[in-house]
Amino acid sequence: MSVLSVKNLIYGYSKGTPFEKGALKGVSVDFEKGEIVALIGHTGSGKSTLLQHLNGLLKPDSGDVLFEGESIHKSKQTLRNCRFNVGLCFQYPEQQLFDSTVYKDVAFGPANMGLPAEEIDKRVKDSVAYVGLSEDYLEKSPFDLSGGEKRRVAIAGVLSMEPKVLILDEPTAGLDPVGKNNLLKLIKDYNNKTGNTVIFVSHNMDDVALVADKVIVMNDGEIAMEGTVEEVYSQGEKLAGLGLDVPEITSVFIELKNAGFDLGKTEYTVDGAKESIIKFLSEGGLL
Ligand SMILES: Nc1ncnc2c1ncn2[C@@H]1O[C@H](COP(=O)(O)OP(=O)(O)OP(=O)(O)O)[C@@H](O)[C@H]1O
Ligand SMILES: [Mg+2]
Repeated sequence: MSVLSVKNLIYGYSKGTPFEKGALKGVSVDFEKGEIVALIGHTGSGKSTLLQHLNGLLKPDSGDVLFEGESIHKSKQTLRNCRFNVGLCFQYPEQQLFDSTVYKDVAFGPANMGLPAEEIDKRVKDSVAYVGLSEDYLEKSPFDLSGGEKRRVAIAGVLSMEPKVLILDEPTAGLDPVGKNNLLKLIKDYNNKTGNTVIFVSHNMDDVALVADKVIVMNDGEIAMEGTVEEVYSQGEKLAGLGLDVPEITSVFIELKNAGFDLGKTEYTVDGAKESIIKFLSEGGLL
């Protein structure tokens, strides 16, 4: 059974007004336990709208979302259960942070779950450390922090619930290269350590190739492509038609092939490319 299933989801904003906008036009997709899934697509394609349906923040006009096989909208209890198990970190941390200190903000989720005080304390400290912030931050106001720090606090607030499905909407946006790499590591590490599912949105095709098991491409409120990195990225022309590019290293590989260098399979990450090139040079006696 899939951990989360989306069945023919239809959703429009500003219904019944001249600004009515169909944001999801019949989306069906399954998320399996233990997968890292990247959601990509050009701006306005419906990524954030889809994510907000996954933990019941938005209610579909029609269609359904199932968590562990049960409709999240069946009762107050199922919706509550979903909120505690499907943790969504918003695209803009300002939408998520609200309390006067980092400690209180991160404690909000576990406190709501009714956990004992010592467990809440442990989870707050562990998750703040996990996102790379020292204990000095606990008593600071989240609103006095830099953009990158706010994002980390917002992520800690979701991690403190230890969600079975961790959802991150553009978690690397606005981070410097070190912050970005740490975040990609965190995604991998959370998935490895807990065996839980991670779903994240990214505009960076290189980052997606580094960490995702599965890629979903959205276009105009629909799923346009779905598959492994290999399956999706090998369709460069289709991606270009959807306003997306293959990673830079992949373009280099394609150019090398066009120039007559047979490097075997196309590579999507710099590390993979390095290995292929070394192998090619060794086999040709050039190394
Ligand atoms: N609160 C809102 N009110 C009205 N329309 C909205 C609202 N939020 C999103 N939309 C519209 O719904 C469509 C899907 O938006 P959504 O934010 O889900 O896209 P996205 O893929 O997350 O884009 P981005 O990459 O820019 O974050 C867009 O046309 C957008 O303008
Ligand atoms: Mg968005």
